[in-house]
Amino acid sequence: MKAAFIEQHGGPEVLKYGDLPDPVAGPGEVVVDVVAASVNGADWKVRAGQYKQSRFPYALGRDFSGVVSAVGEGITDFKVGDAVFAVCEAGQEGAYAEKIAIKAAIVARKPDRLSHVNAAALALTGLTAMSAIEDTLKLQPGETILIQGGAGGVASFAVQLAKHIGAHVITTGSAANHAYLRDLKADEIIDYNVTDFTRVVSNCDAVFDTVGGEVAQRSFAVLKPGGRAAFIASGPQAPKPVRDDVTSLRPPVGRARRHLDRIAQLFAAGAIRPPEITLYRLSEAADAHRLSESRHFRGKLVFQVR
Ligand SMILES: NC(=O)c1ccc[n+]([C@@H]2O[C@H](COP(=O)([O-])OP(=O)(O)OC[C@H]3O[C@@H](n4cnc5c(N)ncnc54)[C@H](OP(=O)(O)O)[C@@H]3O)[C@@H](O)[C@H]2O)c1
Repeated sequence: MKAAFIEQHGGPEVLKYGDLPDPVAGPGEVVVDVVAASVNGADWKVRAGQYKQSRFPYALGRDFSGVVSAVGEGITDFKVGDAVFAVCEAGQEGAYAEKIAIKAAIVARKPDRLSHVNAAALALTGLTAMSAIEDTLKLQPGETILIQGGAGGVASFAVQLAKHIGAHVITTGSAANHAYLRDLKADEIIDYNVTDFTRVVSNCDAVFDTVGGEVAQRSFAVLKPGGRAAFIASGPQAPKPVRDDVTSLRPPVGRARRHLDRIAQLFAAGAIRPPEITLYRLSEAADAHRLSESRHFRGKLVFQVR
């Protein structure tokens, strides 16, 4: 099969396009012919060697949508030809490829109305946003939340989910993304290049930070006493709060079919629409990584694999 893979860690140029052996479905697994795979914010960090992974070569990529092409022993819930989407097991890569073997228990059926490209775009971002907003922050109707980096993949799902819950949503983004953020129905949009968010936002019940670094640290300032903040771009641990009357949380982002089914339900209900998407071929993986690593774009970058 064709794949975008690495033989060593490094810059975008280490991404190669070529042949890797076809995967085989083990017991409890299915092989999926990948139609679309998405680029996630973690991918360039994996490529650069920030995560432990030492068996080369390996294909990058954590989520995808496609069609089941083989089933392993014990599989009764899928058959060849089923359209599915999924997020790989935590810490496992391999979606930038024409085929992937994956545990069937973490694969979900793709709704007909959701294209493969959109399903791939919504998989890990949706899982992460739901884990943060619903399971970790437990956001309630009427609460106010600041979502940092609203135009990114995870955050644009989170903005829509928070609005669906009935929260008041404040978000940050550069001016070029404000029309997009208005379309997502954010209540207040701050141009972080012009305005220091800590000067204009206060008394929030919750913060969801997808940016990291000093943005994460400074986010504690906008919380009301008893407020809670969730962080996904500050490594595996939540940052230590600079005050003792708020809670700092790291969403677990577990893999399970029911989370993917919930993405499908939210889409069907009209609560979530897919992000703006820029399409690439697998052979253009290095270009996609350059843009992802710049961290200034809108929505999602997706590989149209076949
Ligand atoms: N399982 C997990 O824990 C998990 C899963 C998914 C993602 N993540 C992490 O979450 C982070 C977000 O990932 P992502 O794929 O959604 O998006 P991303 O590609 O990392 O973020 C892109 C967005 O960030 C915005 N941005 C950059 N700097 C900003 C700033 N200072 N203030 C406000 N916005 C800023 C950009 O908007 P502008 O162009 O307007 O600046 C752009 O739209 C990454 O660090 C990723 O590794 C973790």
